[in-house]
Amino acid sequence: MRAARARFSTRLGFIMAAIGSGLSLGNLWRFPYLTGQNGGGAFVLLYVFFVAAVGLPILISELMLGKLSQRNLVGSFKEAVPSASKYWSWLGGIGIFASVLVLSYYAVVSGWVIHFVVQGIMGAFSQGPEHAGHVIDSLREKGLLQVLLASVHLMLTATIVAAGVRNGIERWARFFMPIYLVVLVALVMHSLLMPGATKALRFLFYPDFSKLTGNAVIEALGHAFFTLSVGFGAMVAYGSYLKKDVSVPTEGVFVAGVDTLLSILAGLLVFPIVYSFNVQAGLGPSLLFKTMPVLFGTFSLGPLIGVAFFICLYVSALSSSIVLFEGVVSYLMDEKKMKRKQASTMLSMVTLVLAIISALSSTAFRDVRIGERGLFEIFDQVIINWTIPVVGLGISIFMGWRLTDGRKQEEFVDENSLSSVRLFPTWQLAIRWIAPGLLILMFLIQIFTSIFI
Ligand code: PFF
Repeated sequence: MRAARARFSTRLGFIMAAIGSGLSLGNLWRFPYLTGQNGGGAFVLLYVFFVAAVGLPILISELMLGKLSQRNLVGSFKEAVPSASKYWSWLGGIGIFASVLVLSYYAVVSGWVIHFVVQGIMGAFSQGPEHAGHVIDSLREKGLLQVLLASVHLMLTATIVAAGVRNGIERWARFFMPIYLVVLVALVMHSLLMPGATKALRFLFYPDFSKLTGNAVIEALGHAFFTLSVGFGAMVAYGSYLKKDVSVPTEGVFVAGVDTLLSILAGLLVFPIVYSFNVQAGLGPSLLFKTMPVLFGTFSLGPLIGVAFFICLYVSALSSSIVLFEGVVSYLMDEKKMKRKQASTMLSMVTLVLAIISALSSTAFRDVRIGERGLFEIFDQVIINWTIPVVGLGISIFMGWRLTDGRKQEEFVDENSLSSVRLFPTWQLAIRWIAPGLLILMFLIQIFTSIFI
């Protein structure tokens, strides 16, 4: 029997939660460091292209699949098309697998954020740029502390999810997101007044295609998925909570647009600091944590705002983790007939064990490497550049070719919205040809580069 699903009480709740998952570590932390590593403008352009051409059509598909099937990703295929082969549900399994992996590695970075909140309260941001810049380096040398912080984060996430969707997601996201946006915009304005701002703008918006490597192209695609939370099944679970009268395409376009703007905002925040204080743009995962404390040391209210910033960043990381966690828990409840509490406990144990691996990648497992990459980077790349795009490809093929046109139209087109009528053929083209075509091309490039380069 299908359990009656809790519904979001208002549309605003969904939007805020969606912004919450958009305004998250992917945008603030991952986007700037990838842009820094991959040479700036050309990468940004490519990322925006992939969001529009691949991420958005698949995001809309995931939301639609959830809304029409009222199921999680694994069960959704059979529900949407009863004659669908059972192999489709395997794809759901891959999405669940990716969610578990991301949860664990996300927990480590969320743990870093907790550390910065605590350090900020203890005055680390008022001790000058030199000291502030070192907080992240010394944290990454302490494996056990990272494990501890990641476990605090996972326990908190599990507790909230065990308590149910409504209480968890809505209450948190609604309250914090507007505050976060205001803090962010104020900080960006401050950052843009720094001497390195012109160089930063040039770096971000002047595309130099000679800097674009094959790897950069793949990173841009993977990140488009990650940032939109697509390829995990989480958005299918989300779609299943949407009210009947919510227009999915409008929601998708809105979410993807906001998400992209937020990434650009994060770039405008971080790179002026990079160029004003000679931080290395290609520093990698530590970039945000190296630059922000420096910024907070430059004005009198900085240390206080710094604490507020990291608290907001943490809440957004928590809210994303809740979405991911909820996706897996709803799968365990629907398909494995587990109780919510039991599923939450089990999942938190599994992710904790996995989190230990990424937390120790910069200490005890420092020497476990494939080529240049440590465990943390391997985790990151396997999930984001391979696993979630595979799920995305499957979803686009299913929605493009397997679901009947009538069913699609019924879900997609809202008579009251002319734009949804106009958008339908474009989405259909994207989901049938453009997204799968680009994805297959990307996989071929990846295979080629990993064999020959
Ligand atoms: N989109 C989030 C980010 O950019 O940080 C990551 C994420 C959240 C992925 C929730 C998947 C998900 F279900």
